[in-house]
Amino acid sequence: MATQPGEVDSAAAAKYAALRREIKECAQEPGATLDMLHAVQRQFGYLEPQAVGMVAEELGITKAQLYGVATFYTMFFFEPKPPVIARVCVNLSCHLRGAQEVLHTLEEAAAAQPEDFEVEEVMCLGLCEQAPALLVNEVAVGGVSPAEALQKVQAKVSAIAGSE
Ligand code: FES
Repeated sequence: MATQPGEVDSAAAAKYAALRREIKECAQEPGATLDMLHAVQRQFGYLEPQAVGMVAEELGITKAQLYGVATFYTMFFFEPKPPVIARVCVNLSCHLRGAQEVLHTLEEAAAAQPEDFEVEEVMCLGLCEQAPALLVNEVAVGGVSPAEALQKVQAKVSAIAGSE
């Protein structure tokens, strides 16, 4: 039976419950606001509005105020994203060592499976001496060929699909 508007399916209910536990755990910590926003993004893949509301309530601020904080940072997403984000450094060191080929290979693959991953260009991952560098979700990889980069991304896609 399809979920009706306003209803929450059991998978989503489990995510809200896990989020509620996480935000209670970090409520007293310094930097709790960002930790809570990260928790929302971990659970939902983006800053899901109802979950943002839970955090705002916990912090005693409005959702608008919380979004005001979140929009300052580039690491938060405001719409659903695929489970894997591949960030390719295109700055000078990486550019000179083949970043465009890595980027092209990943973009071509992402176009064929947009529900699995997407590719972003970034301006330095702090791995300049290991160029070309890539970040697959939170895992940094240096010195990758286009084929290796694609293998790393596909492995992450498979790992996430296998854990669901
Ligand atoms: S220039 Fe690519 S990681 Fe710094």
